[in-house]
Amino acid sequence: MENFDVAVIGAGAAGMMCAAVAGQRGLRVVLIDHATRLAEKIRISGGGRCNFTNRDAGPANYLSDNPRFCRSALARYTPQDFVALVKRHRIAFHEKHKGQLFCDASSEQIIDMLVAECEAGRVQWRRPVQVHEVRRGASFSISTSAGEIEARALVVATGGLSIPKIGATDFAYALARQFGLEIVEPRPALVPLTFTTSGWDPFAALSGLALEASVSTGAGKSRGEFLEDLLLTHRGLSGPAILQISSFWSLGQPLNIDLLPAFDAVEWLLAAKPGSKKQLVTQLSEKLPGRLAETWAQVHGVTPQTRLADLPDRQIRALGEGLNRWTITPAGTEGWRKAEVTGGGVSTSELSSASLEAKRVPGLHFIGEAVDVTGWLGGYNFQWAWASAVAAAQAL
Ligand code: FDA
Repeated sequence: MENFDVAVIGAGAAGMMCAAVAGQRGLRVVLIDHATRLAEKIRISGGGRCNFTNRDAGPANYLSDNPRFCRSALARYTPQDFVALVKRHRIAFHEKHKGQLFCDASSEQIIDMLVAECEAGRVQWRRPVQVHEVRRGASFSISTSAGEIEARALVVATGGLSIPKIGATDFAYALARQFGLEIVEPRPALVPLTFTTSGWDPFAALSGLALEASVSTGAGKSRGEFLEDLLLTHRGLSGPAILQISSFWSLGQPLNIDLLPAFDAVEWLLAAKPGSKKQLVTQLSEKLPGRLAETWAQVHGVTPQTRLADLPDRQIRALGEGLNRWTITPAGTEGWRKAEVTGGGVSTSELSSASLEAKRVPGLHFIGEAVDVTGWLGGYNFQWAWASAVAAAQAL
């Protein structure tokens, strides 16, 4: 039997950060992970360059049943705090788009940085090690493939369900349930959306085509709207605009897509019509990728050769309104295999927002993606991992 002040299960972004900070506070920390490769999600993140935070991250960039829950942790460990750490480790980085900060060289640098921080905190590693059972008496008893571990506090940082092939498990939810804690049903988020074959047939051939669009869904507090790139795929839609909106979308709900944002397509087409010698497709191609212009005409029953001047206003209106207000209902998502993160998780109603400790189970903390706090695309999810980890570590 080994004794520690703190056991952290899950050596990903949140787990390493929490172990490092707790260790550097002088606590005896053991960090347990079942994967053979360390922090695989950090490694593959941001296309291998890790979008490690967002300069402007704030509570408004997160979804949760309780949108206020993330405030406390985010306020106490900010993007600037993480940037200071990155600078201390002399990792060069750049801003790419809308406050998103990426490593210049490789996401491995973030992993190396966290490992070095853990070393500075004399964190003891146990990996690859399976956790068989957790029991709670005066302290937490953890049965693992490397023997019994006893710890005064237990931090669960095993993440969500996305990308099962690199080691995602439902460990956090199972443990939460074991202790009678409520779970907000996990769902794939930041994920491409799919359509029924018949509905998507005309667009499937445009796979690979991208354009900027405004996409919205939902109403009231659960409404989301993003102006970003949209990517057509064989099975549906992807790209940043869709990944963002997918976190707001639920089955049966339509998406509203404006393919010509801030531009009135009907007015433009009607103004161009009198005396025009152009084919409709040629006219549309001034504002849209040519292949999309052609398909758009076809799905509205207009053959590619039809001239704009020969089209009745009524038909022009339908076609133009569709460009500004394309309403389509996805059939589903690409699922856990493609989801960047998990929506839902351990209910925030069960946790203290200051310490991430379970209110009904003293000493038990849940941090990172395991919790029902889901960030937008763009470095927000890592910022939540860092901030929730530090909040828990300072309370241990
Ligand atoms: P994380 O998943 O990082 O770590 C969980 C750890 O627990 C893993 O090491 C796993 O092996 C371990 N574990 C799981 N089950 C276990 C068990 N039963 N026993 C023991 N150990 C167990 N975010 C962002 O802000 N910027 C970005 O650029 C990207 N890019 C990106 C790309 C891709 C392809 C994906 C899939 C995701 C992203 N993300 C992202 C999201 C980001 O990776 C994610 O939100 C954080 O890694 C979450 O950190 P956690 O530490 O909570 O979980």
